[in-house]
This record gives sequence, structure tokens and C-alpha cells, in this order.
Amino acid sequence: MTPQIAIMNKSNLMLSIAGFVILASASCNNNETSNKEEAVSKTGIKTAAWGRTDGRQVHLFTLSNKSGGQVKISDYGGTIISWLVPDKKGSSGSIVLGFDSLSGYLAKPPYFGATIGRYGNRIAKGKFKIGSDIYTLATNNGKNALHGGLKGFDKVVWETLPVVDSVASITLIYTSKDGEEGYPGNLKTSVTFSLSDDNELTIEYNAVTDKPTPVNLTNHSYFNLTGDVSNNILNHVLMIDADLYTPVDSTLIPTGEIKSVKGTAFDFTQPEKIGARINEVAGGYDHNFVLNRKDSSLQLVATLSDSSSGRRLEVFTTEPGLQFYSGNFLNGSIKTSDDKPINQHAALCLETQHFPDSPNEPSFPSTILKPGEKYHSVTKYKVAVF
Ligand code: BGC
Repeated sequence: MTPQIAIMNKSNLMLSIAGFVILASASCNNNETSNKEEAVSKTGIKTAAWGRTDGRQVHLFTLSNKSGGQVKISDYGGTIISWLVPDKKGSSGSIVLGFDSLSGYLAKPPYFGATIGRYGNRIAKGKFKIGSDIYTLATNNGKNALHGGLKGFDKVVWETLPVVDSVASITLIYTSKDGEEGYPGNLKTSVTFSLSDDNELTIEYNAVTDKPTPVNLTNHSYFNLTGDVSNNILNHVLMIDADLYTPVDSTLIPTGEIKSVKGTAFDFTQPEKIGARINEVAGGYDHNFVLNRKDSSLQLVATLSDSSSGRRLEVFTTEPGLQFYSGNFLNGSIKTSDDKPINQHAALCLETQHFPDSPNEPSFPSTILKPGEKYHSVTKYKVAVF
């Protein structure tokens, strides 16, 4: 895989970043609507200026492959903006929700395509303890902390490190300061997105810290395999390789139990239509599935398919959990760039991660990263036509 911040020596890293800054500065005067292509790397990655926020230039990177696939990623929030894949008739469409311009993201949509950190999903009442130290986080979801807080990794401009590799690939880096959103320790994070010619989008996360801290990084893409939000995802067929899930309370915090999916609306061990039993789940699916796994290798954990487009998405991960969120809180108030309302269940998320609220649940796999350790997590989304 590509070199990562945790294993690069500092001078190499700074040199690479400096090289990129020179490339980017050519377009610093462009405003948000400007979308002029400014550079094409050896692996065909296009870089364009994409507006400004927080006094920083934002970029849009386009990764393309030989199969007609194309992924656009922004350094604002480490966000996947679009993922074009041909359907069974050969017509292209984006299988993820996203906007054409930065303004759509600055309006704070619910994490469309974003890299989530420092902690994906909820931490109860925004509090946790490491040893005898109690930490209090920014709360942004009722009394709970969600997806890293008020200004999580999804709302910052990352540094960019273009990678020369055999596949189209880009690395973003971000250092979250000690105390940011209440989390302890300076956390150096990198996320690498790679697109293969087989329409595999691999996301690799690395992080190191100088104080013990919870880390749970994920991507929050909302998938609709039809490529059109006018169709909801209730006819998509889902398989999740999980015999168990973690039930939640009314604020979506795990109760601490681990329950069997057998015979319940949570049983996706065999392919099942999402709409088949969704009405039995209060509010819709928004649950962590405990993946069946023997080890921490990259493993196929979920398959999503849509017969109308003939597209199938496979999810592989090294993570122990998968948050299946059926877009319950989407309510039509947000519109796509071509003015279509994004209604409830217009798209769904399959977020590979550790379990929500793990810092407060000693029986869940630990999410605490300690100084000297390396956080490493890989997720691959693969799209094919059937
Ligand atoms: C959470 C949902 C939340 C959504 C958007 C998902 O990961 O599980 O409860 O509404 O993200 O914030």
C-alpha cells in the first residue's frame, strides 16, 4: 500500500506537503464556483480549486480508472463527493450522495461522504474515563457526542499528499490537537483513497497519538445504487455477515447487550430487501452489527445490490463492526445540486467501525489508542454489475 504518515520520516513528509502547496497555490485566487482543472498527476489524478473556507484553499481531486469509474474527493472533510460507476446498460451515475459545490457542504449536511473522526458514532453524554482521568467532549446530538463533535474531521480542511502509485490514489493528513472537541492527545491521522481499475475504492486509515485517546475513524458515504435519489433504497437487497448486533436506547446509545439477529428484522445473514421488515424497527435501521470474523484481516462483510441498475456493492473491512443507517433522518429538506429533495431512505450508510460508545462499554473491543501504538484500519468498497 501507499506510504503513510505514521511510517514516513518527518522530512519526507514535509517535503511532499511543501511540493503540493506550490502546486495548489497557483489557484488560490479562485472563488468557490471556480472549478478549473489545475494539475494532472502521473496516475491521472486531476486537482482543481474548489473554493475556500477557514482562510484555506479547498481542492477537488478526481480519480479515474480504465473501467469508466470516477471518484471525486475533497480535502474539505476528506469527503467523497461522487462515485460514478456504469450501470448494467453502461450509463454512468453517482452511487453516493454529494453536492457539485463546496457551499452544499458548508451548509452542514448530515456528513455526506465525509471522513468521520476522532470518534465515529456516539459517546454517551460526551463523557468517558481513561484510567482515573475523566474527559468531557463537546456534545452535538442531544446529550451525546456524535461523529467527533461540533467540528469533527468532516468539517476541517485536510493537508494533501498526492501519492505516486500503480493505482490512482490520494492521501490526506490531519493533526487533531490535544483537547480538540475535548479529546486528549495530539492525533496525527492519515486517510488514503485508492481507486483500482476494477472499481474498488479502498480507504486506509492510520493514526498515532501522544496521549491515550479513543479513535474510531470511518467514512460516511450515503449509497443509492440506482444513481437517482428519486428512488429510495427500500428495494435494495442487503447481506451483512453478522449473527449479532448491539441494541440501542432511545438516544441511540448501545445498551451494552449483544443480541442475536436470528428471527428478527436485523437478520441480514441471507440477502434480504431492506424494506421487508424496516417497519418493525422503531425509527428505521441505525444499528451496529457485530461482524462474524475469525481475525482482523480484510474480509467481505456486506453486499448491497439493486436489480434495477444491476449494480452490486461489496464491503470489505478490517473493522469489527458495521453501522447500518437507513437514512432515517433525511426528510426532503436538503436538495441535491439538481434540486431533487433528499427524502427519508433516499440513501443508506454502511459505516465500518468499532462499536458506538465503546469507551464506556468495557465488554466492547477497545478503541483506546496509546502512545507508541499505530491505529490502522482498511475498508474496501467494490462495485460490479450483475
Ligand atoms: C448515525 C445516525 C446519524 C447519521 C447522520 C449515522 O452514523 O448512526 O444516527 O443520524 O449518522 O448523522
